Amino acid sequence: MLLGGTTEARALAKRFAVAGIEALYSYAGRTKSPQPVPIPTRIGGFGGSDGLAAYITQTGFTHIVDATHPFAAKMSHNAVAAAKATGTPLVALVRPAWTQGPGDTWADVPDIAHAVQALDTEPQRVFLAIGRTEVAQFAARPEHFYLLRLVDPPSAPAPLPDCKIITDRGPFTETADRALLEKYRISLVVTKNAGGTGARAKLDAARALGLPVLMINRPTVPPRHEVASLDAVMDWIAHNGTRRGV
Ligand SMILES: NC(=O)c1ccc[n+]([C@@H]2O[C@H](COP(=O)([O-])OP(=O)(O)OC[C@H]3O[C@@H](n4cnc5c(N)ncnc54)[C@H](OP(=O)(O)O)[C@@H]3O)[C@@H](O)[C@H]2O)c1
Repeated sequence: MLLGGTTEARALAKRFAVAGIEALYSYAGRTKSPQPVPIPTRIGGFGGSDGLAAYITQTGFTHIVDATHPFAAKMSHNAVAAAKATGTPLVALVRPAWTQGPGDTWADVPDIAHAVQALDTEPQRVFLAIGRTEVAQFAARPEHFYLLRLVDPPSAPAPLPDCKIITDRGPFTETADRALLEKYRISLVVTKNAGGTGARAKLDAARALGLPVLMINRPTVPPRHEVASLDAVMDWIAHNGTRRGV
């Protein structure tokens, strides 16, 4: 059972297909047109950890690979609980977090609520690169201009009085993100510490332009076996035994 939603999960699905590993890719269903993968897929929640445990039992999957987004903490909690309840081995493929380097001006906050509080009282022009689901929390700070970049066009207007929404899907480049920040005269980048390469461009662009970044740290997840590469997941499967071929 491959819990997906990331570039790395799609890459893993390709590795599974090539290796003939019988696997199912699970999407949360957050985007209207998820990028295709070369293995069978399912979409939507399982109904909490009990639902996932029941699903694992019914389908007979022997291994759980959690390759979800670092901020999809509820799914990761549920996966650990379901793995424990069913006695199914679990591995998590985790991207290293981004770290500050020379030329960066980052301020860390533990979550979205603290990011909202941390905004300056003087009006800012904010690139709010946090996805769609938690944007409404910034309605508490209507004095700022917000630039949102979303995968899908929104189904309802954003609850922010001064905002511009663009739709685009990564990976992004530093050159294009720098042009974007300049075009909208951005003065602050707010982002989640997702890690990885595809979304890193905005940080490189912010560094090049000398812009500050408000970095939202990752939520905590329960202790679990974590690896950082596709090869390590393949090794883990090889050393834990699995059903191969169809
Ligand atoms: N999920 C993604 O693909 C994704 C991608 C990019 C960024 N993010 C970031 O993560 C934050 C939280 O996202 P989220 O609400 O999707 O995660 P979440 O809060 O961990 O998950 C909420 C519920 O969505 C379902 N779910 C999540 N991932 C699933 C998967 N791969 N397959 C099946 N069901 C899944 C589960 O429902 P049940 O309890 O009913 O099983 C889970 O309890 C977002 O604001 C965004 O920053 C997530």
